[in-house]
Amino acid sequence: MNSISKREFTELTQDDVGDPGVFQRLLAQETVPVPEFLKPSHPGFSDVDMPIWRYTSREFHRLEAEKMWSKVWQFVGRTDQIPNAGDNIVYDIVDQSVVVIRGDDGVIRGFHNSCLHRGRALRTASGSTAVLKCPYHGFTWDVCGKFKSLPSAWDFCHLKEQDLSLPQVRVDTWAGFVFINFDADAAPLLDYLDVLPEHFKAYFFDRAYIQAHVQRKIPCNWKVAQEAFMESMHTRATHPQIMTFTGCLDSQYDMYGDNLSRSITPMGIVGPHLTGVSEKVVLRDILQESGRMASSDAGKYTLPDGMTARKYIGELNREIFGAAAGADLGQATLAELEDAILYSVFPNTQIWAGFGSNIVYRVIPDGDNHESCLFDVLILGRHAEGTECPPAARVNRLADDAPFSSAAEIGALGAVFDQDMRNLPYMMKGLKASHKGAVSLATYQESRIRHHHVTLDKYLGLDEVR
Ligand code: FES
Ligand SMILES: [Fe+2]
Repeated sequence: MNSISKREFTELTQDDVGDPGVFQRLLAQETVPVPEFLKPSHPGFSDVDMPIWRYTSREFHRLEAEKMWSKVWQFVGRTDQIPNAGDNIVYDIVDQSVVVIRGDDGVIRGFHNSCLHRGRALRTASGSTAVLKCPYHGFTWDVCGKFKSLPSAWDFCHLKEQDLSLPQVRVDTWAGFVFINFDADAAPLLDYLDVLPEHFKAYFFDRAYIQAHVQRKIPCNWKVAQEAFMESMHTRATHPQIMTFTGCLDSQYDMYGDNLSRSITPMGIVGPHLTGVSEKVVLRDILQESGRMASSDAGKYTLPDGMTARKYIGELNREIFGAAAGADLGQATLAELEDAILYSVFPNTQIWAGFGSNIVYRVIPDGDNHESCLFDVLILGRHAEGTECPPAARVNRLADDAPFSSAAEIGALGAVFDQDMRNLPYMMKGLKASHKGAVSLATYQESRIRHHHVTLDKYLGLDEVR
């Protein structure tokens, strides 16, 4: 196993660009206390090639369904999507389906989406309902899963009422994120999330709500889409317009246990590929092109002489994010106000840390099709303490060929996702056409992808990627 040492990075030759030490040096310039958890946490990994069947074969997909999706905590939605009794989310994963529904006692439960009569799916889409009534013959349950009625009771004397409660899957929540788990013996969600709740506790996620939610089908294996967001190394080739304000190759990559990894890409600094970019250009471009700052109105702000764009945008975010959350962010680091601090929760959910513009990505297989997936992007805002949570934005399900830039609610991020989408179908094409039969990962910058596959192997009983 190759271990990653800092020394390897400080000895970069003149021709090399990128320095994973940049973020720590930026932290050293902060004028407020810096949280300990922003330090590097990297166990090191091997650089063995990964077999392509992991992305392309039906056999691997079935293994995932049988041994992984049946065991892991899975993000199904946010509590603000189901604020009232009867509000529900239908969550489909491979060939399983679950109705996650709020009861009239306020408790969120998950029920196998299958009628106890002859098995029809009870709900076909998320929404709100007074009862869970099967559309086929009308077997009915209340929103807590308690049996209510069936047609022709005289003909079902063999069914005992105590056997007619809807079978449940486990549901748990953290910071408004609702998770399910099919495995009755799984460790509790909070254990599964490892250090995530600790790292996120300052960010007011309990007062988060969905500002925007866009979903689209992508013709690739779910891991191919997920991995498009696990490294910043593709910026130069795929997103050249963000290089003026993105320290892409200067990112720090961290891992915690089996289920969590993180990348931190410094923002508001000139990318390592470029020289001679003025601070004014950095400010203009980050406002216009990042899609994540508190304002995108580049014409409204002028950089005072002598101030860096990183400082200016951090202070702007401090003011606007603080006002939105009704909180004093005076002690927030610039890093937590503007940098791209992205955590992934195994297997398929990624959540941006920090005090504002938190994006959530989720990728799930498109039913039982291992060559297609559904990609969800949520943007979370905050409401002030004591104020009512604004209604969650409804999901904007784009047509299969619609660009993300047609979703105005995600601003400049749409164009960035469209650039990512231009790679993904061709990843599948190329993986299937591969003569090499394996993919090769960068040892450090793609270590989150390695980490993801190492954990996947633990579930599948394989040992291919360590
Ligand atoms: S299958 Fe549901 S009521 Fe008959
Ligand atoms: Fe990208």
